[in-house]
Amino acid sequence: MVFYSLLFIFMVTAPLGASGLAAGNAACANLTEFLTSSKINSDKLSPQYLETQEDYWNAVQSSYVPSCVVYPTSAQDVSVALQGIRAAGSRFAIKAGGHNPNTFFSSVDAGVLIDLGSMTSMLYNEDTTLATYEPGSLFGDLYDYYAKFNRTVVGARLAGVGTGLALGGGLSFLSPQYGMACDSFRELEVVLPSGEIVTASNTTNPDLFFAMRGGGGNAYGVVTKYTVQSRPIGEFYAGNVIYLFNQTTAVSEAIQNFIQYNEDPKASIIGTYEMLPTPSFGLDLDRAVIMFLVYDGPDAGDAFKNFTDIPNLFNSLGIKTYPEVVNMPIPMSTELSRGDNIFRVGVHRIGDDSYQTALDNWYTWAEDNKGSYSLSSIDFQPIPKSLTDASKAQGGNAMEMPDGPWYWVNYLISTPSSLSQQDYDEAQAKFRDMVKKTANAEGLPLFINDANYDQNPLSTFSTYSKLQEIKKKYDPDNFFANYTGGWSFD
Ligand SMILES: Cc1cc2nc3c(=O)[nH]c(=O)nc-3n(C[C@H](O)[C@H](O)[C@H](O)COP(=O)(O)OP(=O)(O)OC[C@H]3O[C@@H](n4cnc5c(N)ncnc54)[C@H](O)[C@@H]3O)c2cc1C
Ligand SMILES: *[C@@H]1O[C@H](CO)[C@@H](O)[C@H](O)[C@H]1NC(C)=O
Ligand SMILES: *[C@@H]1O[C@H](CO)[C@@H](O)[C@H](O)[C@H]1NC(C)=O
Ligand SMILES: *[C@@H]1O[C@H](CO)[C@@H](O)[C@H](O)[C@H]1NC(C)=O
Ligand SMILES: *[C@@H]1O[C@H](CO)[C@@H](O)[C@H](O)[C@H]1NC(C)=O
Ligand SMILES: *[C@@H]1O[C@H](CO)[C@@H](O)[C@H](O)[C@H]1NC(C)=O
Ligand SMILES: *[C@@H]1O[C@H](CO)[C@@H](O)[C@H](O)[C@H]1NC(C)=O
Repeated sequence: MVFYSLLFIFMVTAPLGASGLAAGNAACANLTEFLTSSKINSDKLSPQYLETQEDYWNAVQSSYVPSCVVYPTSAQDVSVALQGIRAAGSRFAIKAGGHNPNTFFSSVDAGVLIDLGSMTSMLYNEDTTLATYEPGSLFGDLYDYYAKFNRTVVGARLAGVGTGLALGGGLSFLSPQYGMACDSFRELEVVLPSGEIVTASNTTNPDLFFAMRGGGGNAYGVVTKYTVQSRPIGEFYAGNVIYLFNQTTAVSEAIQNFIQYNEDPKASIIGTYEMLPTPSFGLDLDRAVIMFLVYDGPDAGDAFKNFTDIPNLFNSLGIKTYPEVVNMPIPMSTELSRGDNIFRVGVHRIGDDSYQTALDNWYTWAEDNKGSYSLSSIDFQPIPKSLTDASKAQGGNAMEMPDGPWYWVNYLISTPSSLSQQDYDEAQAKFRDMVKKTANAEGLPLFINDANYDQNPLSTFSTYSKLQEIKKKYDPDNFFANYTGGWSFD
């Protein structure tokens, strides 16, 4: 708490100064006139404000103090909020599920926080099989709702993540069949930085629709309604398998074989390696390999045989519903893993030694830096050809994903909240340098959902110059670029 208070005082007095505070307060005062009292809250001690402030997966962001929080219930409200913010020259942020770990992407200090959490309506059209939902739900809520129709929407692999996921592409257990979450978009309602409310689809504002399919949130406008192609679901064969460290070589081989050879689009995996800060004492009890194995259907055939053949410590494979699948390994995983969390990303192809290099670099760093993290993990996420084919078949997305197979690597560092600012910065710098040591594959996009802001992921897209033009068109005077956080377009 002391650390956060000090950090807060530093943040408010140093970079923002009095004018930042004044602009935030002016925007809030103005918006109080245009929005009914249930839609704006400046009471920093009220339960509603505190709940919004607390609800970030990267806990560092909970130390920021918005001048007020706006709770829109319509596109019109979002439009009013953006206009009031613009008139006051205030900083702001747009928040859906609050899971992006990058500071100021969905958090703001001394400015207006637009919390989309009150916009939770969802609908299913049985004639068209299209699903329409507002941005304020978590994917777990959407899955529970659509499961009643034996349908689902393509979204997060963990129930607790918010709808901003799809604006960054969105990798689902169903992606090898249907493409990224954004590939299932059919129509979006968008409030532009000007406040104008427009539709984006492949026939109306198709350039905006293109950019919003994986080109990032809080850049081109605010999505207030998603209409997406829903997908059928029934029973799954899924679970976690946990291995002791001495099986790492065998499991790593099985993961690489799966990335390279698996051709069954109903089979989906995440390979995760975890390291705890506790000393190893030569017993390797500080590390484990945890597989997420998910098959869309009750019979996985031999899809996971390479994994189940390896002796393991724990195996929860069995028949599950989709809502159960996204609560693996345990319900509330995203809530329980809240902390001072930072992500980084890598992208590689099978066929060189990058898999082993990435793993070795991470292990070496994790051994040498035991004091600077409370948990660290490295996750391997296959992008099979079936996924990139499914994406193309629906028109492609802002990444214009080259043909699979290739894979993304997600690195996580969770730091103890007791670290001083200097030790925190040092830990993050070493973590950054470790990730940099493993060269990324040429010509493949970094996954923005797993990226740190300083990795400039959009610049790795083959579509970057097109995205820069679209950004210029829809945010012509750089209102979003100047006043809220987000990916660099420079
Ligand atoms: C525990 C955990 C599990 C994850 N699992 C997956 C996974 O399975 N697949 C995957 O692809 N990613 C995954 N991610 C990454 C996740 O997709 C990103 O962190 C994503 O940004 C989170 O979206 P959100 O709505 O929860 O977060 P937020 O931080 O609220 O939003 C993310 C970004 O999008 C912007 N944004 C949100 N909604 C809108 C909107 N309606 N209009 C305009 N901008 C908007 C925000 O301003 C912010 O910049 C996971 C992350 C965590 C922490
Ligand atoms: C208040 O916001 C409106 C837009 O909603 C704007 O037109 C007006 O100029 C603002 N007033 C002040 C004092 O900033
Ligand atoms: C969903 O599937 C189950 C099992 O096949 C079936 O009993 C149920 O009627 C289906 N529900 C709907 C709404 O189609
Ligand atoms: C628009 O999307 C629909 C539905 O996916 C598709 O059938 C159609 O071919 C697309 N049109 C264009 C111009 O991309
Ligand atoms: C791994 O360790 C376990 C438990 O100590 C042991 O039973 C097993 O034989 C070991 N396997 C290998 C491949 O060393
Ligand atoms: C399992 O591993 C073997 C190599 O040992 C490989 O030929 C096969 O394709 C793999 N199967 C899957 C589904 O990963
Ligand atoms: C954003 O910053 C640029 C450069 O300082 C400035 O020209 C532009 O007017 C700013 N836009 C807004 C909306 O304030």
